[in-house]
Amino acid sequence: MPDEVKKPDSAGSPGEACAECSRRRFAKIGLGSVAAAGAGSAVFGYSFLAPNVLYEPSPIVDAGKPDRYPPDSVTPDTQSEIYIVHGPEGIYTLSAVCTHLGCLTAWKPELGIIACPCHGSKFRTDGTKIEGPAPRPLPWLKTWVDDDGGLLVDRSEPLEQKQFVRI
Ligand code: FES
Repeated sequence: MPDEVKKPDSAGSPGEACAECSRRRFAKIGLGSVAAAGAGSAVFGYSFLAPNVLYEPSPIVDAGKPDRYPPDSVTPDTQSEIYIVHGPEGIYTLSAVCTHLGCLTAWKPELGIIACPCHGSKFRTDGTKIEGPAPRPLPWLKTWVDDDGGLLVDRSEPLEQKQFVRI
């Protein structure tokens, strides 16, 4: 009886199996690297193409109903950086931003003035300067009553002339 001839197994020799293993590992690493590079390119591409827009709040302030402001009062709105003043001639709005270097001023009810904490400028309730380095008075802002009876203020442009809302 002849000796049985042994066939080589299908996986080949141990050396050939390791070569196949490292080819697969190399292919996986290569595909992973390509995928990571593609994802990075997608992120940078999106950030490059996305609009670079700065969203600012609206310059129009809804100041509520005019009866919130009693006669002979100054009402600061620090969030909107304005003062709503109800004087003898009506309601008007001043910017609270100092005309010197742009600090936010503060209403001093005990003194009846508006004062800047940065360099000491002082203003009357009509915005005129009393003293300090501020080169201009506090600007008046357009103020009006809308169809629903609410007070609106436009902070985008200072007024050239004084303007009152009479209620
Ligand atoms: S910023 Fe107001 S006095 Fe200088």
